[in-house]
Amino acid sequence: MPTLKPLLARNRSWALQQRQRDPECFEKLVSGQQPHSLWIGCSDSRVPAEVLTDARPGELFVHRNIANMVDADDDSFMSVLQYALHYLNVERVVLCGHYGCGGVLAALSLPEMALANESSALSRRIGQLRAALKGEIHSLPAGDESAALNALVEANVRAQFAHLLRCGPVQALLESGRALSLHGCVYDLASGHLTTLVEYDATEEAYP
Ligand code: CO
Repeated sequence: MPTLKPLLARNRSWALQQRQRDPECFEKLVSGQQPHSLWIGCSDSRVPAEVLTDARPGELFVHRNIANMVDADDDSFMSVLQYALHYLNVERVVLCGHYGCGGVLAALSLPEMALANESSALSRRIGQLRAALKGEIHSLPAGDESAALNALVEANVRAQFAHLLRCGPVQALLESGRALSLHGCVYDLASGHLTTLVEYDATEEAYP
């Protein structure tokens, strides 16, 4: 039976390294958090928010789900968004998709999958994603499959970013005049690079 032992050992080793780097690092975090950014990303194990941005504990407030979906009817997501914007006062929101996303691929190929006939949370979420990307799926170029998936991954970031801008907590904050920037990004598994696709800055009102 798999045990937790290897993870516990790595945890103690990590904690020791952190203390060696900064002897008060944990004490500083006990009194509270002041993350500068909210990260909305995919649950994919290869896209770990803190690792790829070289962030320390206390820097990022994180919500991850399959295919980085922004759904105003999802209380889990909406409560994270509200808390980050109105209680933690984060200064930026990063919505991050990634090339090679299994969730986006499943949305693309759902009609040919057994998943389509299931009654399950996974089937409902992927069905919802396919519905949200219906127009984009329809206009995908024929031929190169991986190019089509990459294009759909980018389209998904733009679609979820548009949903994000319409969310109540974001609208309320933008109307309040407080500084907030929102960034729609894509992460490349092959290079480790994060790239911006779309941005909104409340102070500049630049929305490409
Ligand atoms: Co993914």
